Amino acid sequence: MKIFTATQIREADAYTIQHEPISSLQLMERAATACAQWLFRHFDARKPFYIFCGMGNNGGDGLAITRLLLNNGYKATACIVHHSNKASADHTANRQLLEQQYPQSIYDVAAVADLPTLPPKSIIIDAIFGTGLRSAIEGWMAGLIHQLNDLQTRHTLVAIDLPSGMLADASSAHMPVVHASITLSFEVYKLAFLLPENAARTGQVHILPIGLHPDYLTQTPTRFHVTDAHMMRTIYQPRQPFAHKGTYGHALLVAGSYGKMGAAVLSAKACLHAGVGLLTCHVPQCGYQIIQISAPSAMCVTDIQETYSSHFHESAPQTRGLQQYKTIGIGPGLGTATGTAKALEQLLEQYRQPMVLDADALNIISEYPFLLPRIPHGSLLTPHPKEFERIFGSSDNDFARLELLSRQAVSLQLYILLKGRFTAMACPDGAVYFNSTGNPGMATGGSGDVLTGILTSLLAQGYAPKAAILLGTYLHGLAGDIAAARMSQEAMTAESIIDCLGPAFLQL
Ligand code: APR
Repeated sequence: MKIFTATQIREADAYTIQHEPISSLQLMERAATACAQWLFRHFDARKPFYIFCGMGNNGGDGLAITRLLLNNGYKATACIVHHSNKASADHTANRQLLEQQYPQSIYDVAAVADLPTLPPKSIIIDAIFGTGLRSAIEGWMAGLIHQLNDLQTRHTLVAIDLPSGMLADASSAHMPVVHASITLSFEVYKLAFLLPENAARTGQVHILPIGLHPDYLTQTPTRFHVTDAHMMRTIYQPRQPFAHKGTYGHALLVAGSYGKMGAAVLSAKACLHAGVGLLTCHVPQCGYQIIQISAPSAMCVTDIQETYSSHFHESAPQTRGLQQYKTIGIGPGLGTATGTAKALEQLLEQYRQPMVLDADALNIISEYPFLLPRIPHGSLLTPHPKEFERIFGSSDNDFARLELLSRQAVSLQLYILLKGRFTAMACPDGAVYFNSTGNPGMATGGSGDVLTGILTSLLAQGYAPKAAILLGTYLHGLAGDIAAARMSQEAMTAESIIDCLGPAFLQL
């Protein structure tokens, strides 16, 4: 699914109005109907609704929603918030329609003191500001937002299109913004919904189709996308009937150190359960038995020392060197000893195919930044926010960090995955994809090691790097969602994610 900017959303509205054709008032009625139908499905008619309507078209949506609620036997009051003397044409038209049918349903708010006293368990609808907001809300309106946020703790607050005060395409981290329990938005995601700074402000986001013109939706190029099941079905390659283990590649996983062999085991198991043909684990001597017992489907070679030596390939004389591997995954539980850093440097000299770098491989790179441009083009880096910051520096806000992420992916010609609720995957061509699967149960030790194993597996199987990140990250989150549904977010562990990889593949 594409993510549109506020400007593109306005263009999509205008294109639909011109080419369907449909009047802007009819399009507003369609958006309001989509919201009202959602509200009918989720709230019964006993609950009183208070719809706070601004003077623009977001307010127009709110006035139309009020009328539709009243038409369907709900108790609804439109609180018109007079932040400006000028109302939009469609706001005015909808106010007139509401006044004609339900003259008692309108209540004017021109100061915080005008707020009505809400009965317990009211539903507050926030339709004050939408995508037309230009800057931070100030003055008495800022006080009103704070007051609504206070009410949100005792009532359900549903934002229409986006919570008032939030900017769709820029940071509003330090601005007054409504804290919604639910956000009902139209047709496409907004970038703001996917960034951590707004996590506590949007609540659950539901995207409602309102029939914007398909030509505009399909033909308009966008930089930002959200992955979905349909996209995965176009990427996923079912196994071939005449396949043998060589068909699905031989991966090398370089992971583990004394006290952190669990990371290597988790990565290895995830790699195997994601379909790799053959897997060799390269571990320090202390990990040999651990790998052989925990992951008998994998082969194991050991380093000559207890940490990694600088003689990477020579330490495994029974192999034909690194070139036999279709790809390499390096980092989980690796440690950052000097010898290990030297080994990574050698590995980057000897192996020039796309590989996966995670965890301590990234921490080593943050200590030896000259290694960064030596990473083979098309490789996948999977930092969490702290690892990202160690390598690339800090940013003022999430939007700035997203731009930094994208700039680095383009200039280094790498795929960089910034892990989080909506993992952001920046591509060398400037595109950024947000993963849509996953849940807070995955915020547990080892879950990143599992992702490294899955990505290494998919690269080894011949998926192109972009296909591997999109599919691998989606599968990782989907397996986490299945695990959470089976045993709860609290009880699940990284092992549960591996156990649910099979059902996740079956769901594709
Ligand atoms: N402070 C106060 N008022 C502001 C500010 C600000 N910083 N910025 C803009 N405004 C005013 C504008 O002058 C205008 O009156 O807020 C109003 C913008 O209202 P919106 O409803 O956000 O914008 P509009 O373009 O009219 O409608 C967009 O319509 O399609 C629906 O809900 C959908 O979000 C979408 C909305």
